[in-house]
Amino acid sequence: MDIMEAIEKRHSVRQYTGVPVSDEKAKVLLDAISSCNESGSLRFRLIRNEPEAFSSPLAKYGRFSGVMDYISVAGPRSPDLGERCGYYGERIVIEAQRAGLNTCWVGLTYRRIPGALSVGKEEKLLGVIAVGYGKTQGIPRRTKSVSDICDIRGDEPEWFFIGLRSVLLAPTAMNQQKFRFSYADGMVTADPGHGFYTNTDLGIAKYHFETASGKGPEIWKLRRKKCPSHC
Ligand SMILES: Cc1cc2nc3c(=O)[nH]c(=O)nc-3n(C[C@H](O)[C@H](O)[C@H](O)COP(=O)(O)O)c2cc1C
Repeated sequence: MDIMEAIEKRHSVRQYTGVPVSDEKAKVLLDAISSCNESGSLRFRLIRNEPEAFSSPLAKYGRFSGVMDYISVAGPRSPDLGERCGYYGERIVIEAQRAGLNTCWVGLTYRRIPGALSVGKEEKLLGVIAVGYGKTQGIPRRTKSVSDICDIRGDEPEWFFIGLRSVLLAPTAMNQQKFRFSYADGMVTADPGHGFYTNTDLGIAKYHFETASGKGPEIWKLRRKKCPSHC
């Protein structure tokens, strides 16, 4: 499965079979995690065969079941941590999808397990990504349209809209899609909007945009808000 197909097929999956991820697929995840940790200066970890984080009433309220493996999303405290976690976390999510696994970003509906899910003093745990064999492949959800997330001036190139169509497929906390994009003089400005996890959502969206448009990180005109307690 190529990356674009994986982006289209990915949906959040909350019900898993309860079968732990195989060693072969775990290796794919571990390779992706290690490459993202290095490129993004992050501290993501794969936590295997640990059902406790998703066995609390909160996780059940969030309709999670059968989660055996997950990735902790963490890194050294810094103003752009949320966005970096989103960008690299989504790269891992798409690699997981390509390997035939399902995923769900989780900021709230899980429980921190001392020992399994601990981070260093200078680090921040933003959340986790549940990963495994879904009971289903998930379903498409409602979405905003391209015109809802950008300011159109009329001189935008086609690649800008290709990027934005892929942004609309990106997972966002509570499906909020609060980001906004605009194009001027060959560069793209991206605004995260306000609310919980909007920086993380923006990082995820930027990964989708770059992948679909074929542009690299140099396309972004810098506009960043500080990372609040919830990124
Ligand atoms: C940063 C972030 C945090 C999320 N936190 C939760 C969560 O705590 N519980 C949950 O069930 N889903 C959570 N989600 C999943 C979103 O609800 C889901 O991505 C959104 O509804 C869009 O659906 P899709 O992923 O199928 O496209 C989170 C997603 C993101 C990006």
